[in-house]
Amino acid sequence: MRKIIATVVFIAIELLLLPISLIGYVWLAVKLILISRRTGMSATAYSPLFTRWMLHETGVRKDLACKRVLMSLPGISALNLHMLTGSTFLAARLSGLQPGFMNYPVTLPSTIMTMVNHRTAFFDKALLDHLDKVKQVVILGAGWDTRAYNMLKEDRVRVFEVDTAKTQRVKQTALQQAGIDTAHVTFVTADFNREPWLDSLKRYNFDPKQPAFFLWEGVIYYLEAEAVKATINAVSSQITSGSAIAFDYFCRELVAGVGRLTFRYGAKWSQAVGEPLQFGIPTESTGP
Ligand SMILES: C[S@@+](CC[C@H](N)C(=O)[O-])C[C@H]1O[C@@H](n2cnc3c(N)ncnc32)[C@H](O)[C@@H]1O
Repeated sequence: MRKIIATVVFIAIELLLLPISLIGYVWLAVKLILISRRTGMSATAYSPLFTRWMLHETGVRKDLACKRVLMSLPGISALNLHMLTGSTFLAARLSGLQPGFMNYPVTLPSTIMTMVNHRTAFFDKALLDHLDKVKQVVILGAGWDTRAYNMLKEDRVRVFEVDTAKTQRVKQTALQQAGIDTAHVTFVTADFNREPWLDSLKRYNFDPKQPAFFLWEGVIYYLEAEAVKATINAVSSQITSGSAIAFDYFCRELVAGVGRLTFRYGAKWSQAVGEPLQFGIPTESTGP
């Protein structure tokens, strides 16, 4: 009964403040579309960052670097963030209900609503499970990921962040503005669709004979199939044994933007910001 009342209170507050959240959402979406078109930086990288920031603000997954980077990125203002997420924080506080997308650690099964925080938990665990077995950590398509500045800050591993030149330039400026020490991180630029990223990595003294963990979160669906295969082949055939790669994927229907409303919206949003979904994996049997 208590849970039902809490749910009703939560939904009522969200509905009451929906106009403000919607204005905050549209305001931010327009800014991100314009900025990403002007600078060529990734706009899709904001979504996992927002989730990790909400987990930080809720106090369930501490990541101060995430908060500092977020506030230093283009398009972000405290007012816009409050408009966008204030209703959810208020609803959670007044109702005492912690919605699934603000949980950490997480409880399976995952849903489309909890997709990103569940993904965060999956990659955190994969990284921690491998840390004492490897000498190098490579964050492929790092975007605004801040694991290098908290989980890997004091570690003995070498850390590499790989992303496109345009996104990485914006990240490095944000890190600098946020006053975050990046001395232990090597930044490598590469376009996975156009060049063998491992060659770029080797130019920065990445050693394929030393075991490495590759964290490839939220990236493969934006790539051409050939680039996905080339990356998996490179890790399996050119890096010493004991190495590992963790990645997530979308089903083919989401990538094609067919079926559910969330799939259609996801595909359209990616197109609008110039990062169209390209690679999906069939997850349902289409046979007789
Ligand atoms: C949704 S974001 C995920 C960022 C980060 N891994 C995270 O989970 O917070 C996708 C990232 O992949 C990068 N990316 C997409 N296509 C790429 C390509 N062809 N070459 C290099 N990076 C790419 C984008 O720049 C962006 O940073």
